[in-house]
Amino acid sequence: MDARKLKIEAAAEALTHVRDGMRLGIGSGSTAEEFVRLLAEKVATGLTIIGVPTSERTARLCVELGVPLTTLDEVPELDLAIDGTDEVDGALSLIKGGGGALLREKIVAAASQKMIVIADETKVVETLGRFPLPIEVNRFGLGATKVAIAKACADLGLAGPVILRQKNGEPFVTDGGHYILDASFGRIPDTRALSSALHAIPGVVEHGLFLGLASAAIIAGPGGIRTMTI
Ligand code: A5P
Repeated sequence: MDARKLKIEAAAEALTHVRDGMRLGIGSGSTAEEFVRLLAEKVATGLTIIGVPTSERTARLCVELGVPLTTLDEVPELDLAIDGTDEVDGALSLIKGGGGALLREKIVAAASQKMIVIADETKVVETLGRFPLPIEVNRFGLGATKVAIAKACADLGLAGPVILRQKNGEPFVTDGGHYILDASFGRIPDTRALSSALHAIPGVVEHGLFLGLASAAIIAGPGGIRTMTI
């Protein structure tokens, strides 16, 4: 079964959790975009929701397809966030940020009563870390921040390349105007310790470990759909 079909199936299942009147966090990435397309069809036939997009790209797609949008300044509390992921483990801990939207995604997830993750089976892992961990950093002091990250991670027994993300030969710049360092540590046995260590570094704006935020993950595989909960 092709990858896009699985993404659409997961997105369609997530749509069954959307009720009239909901305030929705709307994720970023190719799976979340399938959700936006399905959501737009429902909106066109009368579903009333208001959405907060997690990236400029998602915002553009929503506007193009007629999904009504607001901001967390207007609507600071959301009912449900639906978003993709780069990895999910059995505790519903995630690595996100492969598309560079992790900061807004985390702010939106934290403002939502529930977060449902949508993904295909390839994103499910036993231990997080196969996917390089995106770390969003302030542009100022990049060199010092990179050294501080390497030191903090070495203290936790984590080592590996920490690479400045590039796009078209230039550093990739997030919607918030920051850079992203992709850290390839391999398995991350203690995600809480790594999260705290990264948050303690002043140049780190946010990282892609989403811990304790997701309440369910809808996983589409060749054998059908399953929902992971904790
Ligand atoms: C965006 O920054 C990411 O967190 C995405 O949610 C994640 O990369 C999943 O994207 P895909 O659905 O395209 O795999």
